[in-house]
Amino acid sequence: MSKSNDTISKTIIVALALCLVCSIIVSASAVLLKPTQVANRTLNVKENILRAAGMIEGAATKAQIEETFKQVKPVIVDLETGEVVAPEVAGYETVAAFDQGKVAQNPETSKDIPNSEDIAGIGRRERYAKVYLVQENDAISRIILPVRGYGLWSTLYGFMALKDDADTVVGFGFYQHAETPGLGGEVDNPSWKGQWPGKEIYNQENEVATTLVKGGVDPNSPNAKYGVDSLAGATLTSRGVENLVHYWLGKEGFKQFLNKIRAGEITNV
Ligand SMILES: Cc1cc2nc3c(=O)[nH]c(=O)nc-3n(C[C@H](O)[C@H](O)[C@H](O)COP(=O)(O)O)c2cc1C
Repeated sequence: MSKSNDTISKTIIVALALCLVCSIIVSASAVLLKPTQVANRTLNVKENILRAAGMIEGAATKAQIEETFKQVKPVIVDLETGEVVAPEVAGYETVAAFDQGKVAQNPETSKDIPNSEDIAGIGRRERYAKVYLVQENDAISRIILPVRGYGLWSTLYGFMALKDDADTVVGFGFYQHAETPGLGGEVDNPSWKGQWPGKEIYNQENEVATTLVKGGVDPNSPNAKYGVDSLAGATLTSRGVENLVHYWLGKEGFKQFLNKIRAGEITNV
């Protein structure tokens, strides 16, 4: 470098120019990649819905996910009444536009949960939720419910899929959480998730009976059909999972809706 270039002012100008160029590149990438990120997130949610419902297994391409998802019908459920409602009732023109996260934050469409009832640790509960139904021969064959609740470090977001009896689990999985890999993160372990299909949610009194059993479920116990092994070394995440199932399948969650399905009051939607 020649002596004339070796000045403080030129060094600062070069540094500033470099910062400007880099910030333009970073901002442009963030803006340009945003639609791809949104599309990937939507695809990931669809994939998780289909996996919970047992409609795809193993690796699946984007095309397979989109094609299989055509069998799934999203509907809006009023959690107070258990009725399926038009999206306009919840303030949206279409079911596709319905944003449950925003509905949960809007004071007009959600409520504060008193601490004593907030077993899922979510603070507020939306009045309307997007539920996914699979229909075969004009009858509902699968019901896929969005659930969420606090574990140890994070809110876990997932889907619980039930059979047409609105009681037996088809599959259960989380698509977003920040629990510790190897501990609470074992909620993603296929062998743990594999315990859920076939479990029943409600006991004879129609109360949620799901239990995460520390030390493992005793297959001879009369309650084995409601039990799943607790996650080893992750009692707090396990308790969070048990609590969120109790909350969302309970009377503050989807219980009214599921009762109506069982009573044959919601059939072809
Ligand atoms: C770094 C670190 C990360 C942890 N992550 C989790 C977790 O994700 N979920 C959880 O329940 N417990 C986690 N724990 C353990 C809890 O602090 C607590 O000890 C545990 O839930 C008790 O479970 P156990 O009775 O099955 O041992 C973590 C502990 C440490 C030190």
